[in-house]
Amino acid sequence: MATLDDIAPLRDQALAAVDAADTLDALEAARVAHVGRKSPLAEILSGIGRLEPAERGPVGKTANEARKAVEAALTARKDALEADAMGAALAADDTDITLPGDPHPAGAVHLLTQVRWELEDIFLAMGYRIADGPEVEDEYHNFTALNVAEGHPARSPSDTFYVRGRDGVALRPQTSPVQIRAMEEARPPLYVISPGVVYRRDDVDATHSPMFHQLEGLAVDEGLSLAHLKGTLVHVARELLGDDVEYALRPHFFPFTEPSVELYVRWVDKRGRSLWLELLGAGMVDPDVFGFVGYDAERYTGFAFGMGLDRIAMVRHGLPDLRLLLEGDVRFLEQFA
Ligand code: DAH
Repeated sequence: MATLDDIAPLRDQALAAVDAADTLDALEAARVAHVGRKSPLAEILSGIGRLEPAERGPVGKTANEARKAVEAALTARKDALEADAMGAALAADDTDITLPGDPHPAGAVHLLTQVRWELEDIFLAMGYRIADGPEVEDEYHNFTALNVAEGHPARSPSDTFYVRGRDGVALRPQTSPVQIRAMEEARPPLYVISPGVVYRRDDVDATHSPMFHQLEGLAVDEGLSLAHLKGTLVHVARELLGDDVEYALRPHFFPFTEPSVELYVRWVDKRGRSLWLELLGAGMVDPDVFGFVGYDAERYTGFAFGMGLDRIAMVRHGLPDLRLLLEGDVRFLEQFA
């Protein structure tokens, strides 16, 4: 029979074994041997009922204290061995966890979007709203209702991308069809702009791309004249390029406006050369176009304009090549972030 005096040596052996264990496996073996179910200490605890009643209390208390001391030592030793294992793994790994991580670069708004937003702000401030229209458009809205004659070169498949098997349906070559859709949906007075992508069968070079961006505008009201058109365009040119921008309106021809004009601005390029650049096309809406949408051409007049956003970005930033805007090279784009 175990006596009170057996317990202290058992405890000390157990603590020594825990102390000596230098791996987690060795520690587990020490736990099984010294406080496991078949260990001497466990046997003492389970045999307490068979002791003299007077011994039960002191033996139980001392054995329990011994077991607790050993278990505490086991836990402490386990933590220490695990920490050592982690330290060793870290030491073996030459990753420097104190270095800062790879920064996540923040994105930025594309230059063309910046130009579009700027123009939208200019027009919204004048009371225009933004209208939208499809990029895949039917022949009626692309050409017919814009007064583009049968046989006009713009209708030719060598100028415009037609959708195979869909009679007359094409990628819109200009944003002007949105004018027709806006007038079909609303009655005057009407002040709308419509920015968007357009497509033409051009070969890619420094100033041409088969896909580019325009911003269309349309105003229809009672009493609008060429003076209102000019005032609007000059205001926009000044907002975009500065109050002292030199400009000229030159006569031109568009099927959907009469008279038609182009707005030119004087621009000094990066090499100091002074150039006249066409910024946009415009004109007074042709009464024939009003006929297609059922507007009373006796009562209402209107003006319209269309500008190239890519061209405006190039002029403003002195870009040598249109392709820079579309290639997505971050080294180019981040200069305008
Ligand atoms: N759609 C013309 C183009 O792509 C630009 C234009 C000219 C739009 C005159 C208009 C306009 O609305 O009235 O060249």
